[in-house]
Amino acid sequence: MTTPPTPQPLQRYSRSQRRAHWWTFGLMVLTYASIESHGFLERGSFARLTVVQLHYWLGIAVLLITLPRIARRLREGAPPIEPAPGAAARLASGAMHLALFIFLVVQPLLGIATRLVSGRGIGVPFTDWAIPSITADRALSKAIEGVHGQIGTVFYAVIGLHIAAALWHWLRGRDNVMQRML
Ligand code: HEM
Ligand code: HEM
Repeated sequence: MTTPPTPQPLQRYSRSQRRAHWWTFGLMVLTYASIESHGFLERGSFARLTVVQLHYWLGIAVLLITLPRIARRLREGAPPIEPAPGAAARLASGAMHLALFIFLVVQPLLGIATRLVSGRGIGVPFTDWAIPSITADRALSKAIEGVHGQIGTVFYAVIGLHIAAALWHWLRGRDNVMQRML
C-alpha cells in the first residue's frame, strides 16, 4: 500500500519579515496622511507644527524598520511562489520590490537631509527639543524638499500598483503570493 504524500507546510515570509511589512504599511499610511493633512491646518499653529513633526518621526520609524529588514531579507531570501511564475513576472515583481526597498531608505534620508540643512533641525512633537541642524542653507533645504515631495508623489502610483498586483493575485486565487505575506 502506498502512503499518501505528506502535505508540505505553507512556506511564508518569516514572522519578522511579515511583521516589518505590515508595520511599514501602517506607518506609510500615517506618514502620508500627516503631511497631506498639514495643508488644512492654520500656518504657524501648534496643530500644524505637531503633524509636520509627527511626519518626520513616522518617516524615521520607517527607515529604522527597513534597514534591519533588508539585512534579514538578504540573509533569508523569499519563500517560493506556487505555482512558480514565469520569467517576465519574476522580473517585474523583483524590479517593483527593489524600487520599494530603495524608496523606503532614500525617501526618509532625503527628508532628514532637508531638516539637517534647514537651520531648524528635526523637532520632536509636543516638546521644545530638536535634533540640531548641521548648517542653515535654506535654498538647499528647499531644493531637497522639492525632490522629496516629487518622489513622494510618484510613489503613490508605485505603491498603488504594488497593492493592486497583490490583491489581483489574492482574488484570482491561483497562487500563494499573498498567503506568503499574511
Ligand atoms: C517614508 C517616509 C516619508 C514619506 C513617504 C514622505 C513623504 C512626503 C511627501 C509626499 C511630502 C510632500 C507633501 C506636500 O508636498 O504637500 C513630504 C514633505 C516633507 N517631508 Fe516627508 N516623507 C517621508 C519621510 C520624511 C522624513 C523622515 C522627514 C524628516 C525627518 C521628512 C520631512 C519632510 C519635510 C520637511 C517636508 C516638507 C513639509 C512642508 O511642506 O512643510 N519626510 N514628505
Ligand atoms: C494593502 C497593502 C499591501 C499589500 C496587500 C501588500 C502585499 C504584499 C505581498 C503579497 C508581498 C509579497 C510579494 C512577493 O513575494 O511576490 C509584498 C511584498 C512587499 N511589499 Fe507589500 N503590500 C502592501 C503594502 C505595501 C507598502 C505600503 C509597502 C511600502 C511602501 C510595501 C512594500 C513591500 C516590499 C518592499 C515587498 C518585498 C518584500 C520582500 O521581498 O522581502 N507593501 N507586499
